[in-house]
Amino acid sequence: MIPFLDLVRQHDSINDELLAALRGVLSSSRFVLGPEGQALEAELAARCGARHGVGVGSGTDALRLALAALGIGPGDEVVTPAFSFVASASTVLMAGATPVFADVDPATLALDPDAFERALTPRTRAVVVVHLYGHPAPIDRLAAIARARGIAVVEDAAQAIGATWDGRPVGGWGDVACLSFYPTKNLGACGDGGMLVTNRDDVAEHVRRLRHHGDSGRYHHVELGYCSRLDDMQAALLRVKLRRLEGWTEARRRLAARYRERLAGLPLGLPAEHPRARHIYHLFTVRHPQRDALAKALADLGVGTAVHYPLPVPGQPLFGDRDERRYPEAWRASREVLSLPCFPELSDAEADEVAKAVRTALERL
Ligand SMILES: Cc1ncc(COP(=O)(O)O)c(C=O)c1O
Repeated sequence: MIPFLDLVRQHDSINDELLAALRGVLSSSRFVLGPEGQALEAELAARCGARHGVGVGSGTDALRLALAALGIGPGDEVVTPAFSFVASASTVLMAGATPVFADVDPATLALDPDAFERALTPRTRAVVVVHLYGHPAPIDRLAAIARARGIAVVEDAAQAIGATWDGRPVGGWGDVACLSFYPTKNLGACGDGGMLVTNRDDVAEHVRRLRHHGDSGRYHHVELGYCSRLDDMQAALLRVKLRRLEGWTEARRRLAARYRERLAGLPLGLPAEHPRARHIYHLFTVRHPQRDALAKALADLGVGTAVHYPLPVPGQPLFGDRDERRYPEAWRASREVLSLPCFPELSDAEADEVAKAVRTALERL
């Protein structure tokens, strides 16, 4: 059996360092807003080409607090892609604003700049740009459209830490970017965690307040805030992993190249990698019109797969828009996408087994 993802392999390989990091936090007993969290904030901000990092409880909270810090609320519209993880849109609802969906580019599944322009109204205040699967969206063009109209750009880089567009890391292009440390992410915590990175001093200061009860100093609560901080245990673990991240990303890229070679010529859509992009293969997602049958055949052959995602965001019961003509590319993607095993500890031999199984499964369809 080849699993879709095996985090045990990762944690076994660095077990001693992880335990030493946890022991360090226990010795200092500074668990919340302590030195590990601060160090991680500085390290990740630098990686993303941003001045500030603000650790929060999850990637979802990073998005929610980013929108709040940008002053977005009731009456405002936020454009968000029709194909993503639900949090790219549900956080707009949490902010009290209205999500306006726009369709995605069929090749990269990133927000389509033309669809974005068509979704704009006088009430649009922000756009959420998702770097889906680890492939950067055309952030220069999307940001230029937004800036020309005074609209804030929120990068949802939950899946894309380390990805670049024109050689520049994602996370430093917009007004603010959101990272997720959900355990399965390329930089995953051992629990929930997230971070917001930004070049804007005002946004960083505001989110530092919002994550900590709206506190402007010691027990001076100037606005309604939340309790959403990245704790130092998670930060210490993440700092151990961060030292490995570039090597892990290269391992993912090598696996992706191997899959491309071995799957070439099959009746199967392979993930696009735009010439200006560095894809970090959080997911290696192929496409096939008989996706469910392919997944079943692969399971029978002992290969784990996953579907990201089985419904476009507006089609989720939460939003309840079943009109497929409005977002045809998102609907088509939701029926065709299938993610293959792609994690740094997957061996070349296992990747070859997966590719062989895909070939066999396609013949059986
Ligand atoms: C694109 C995207 N946005 C936002 C999130 C939310 O992150 P979290 O799970 O850390 O809340 C995730 C991941 O789960 C995601 O994949």
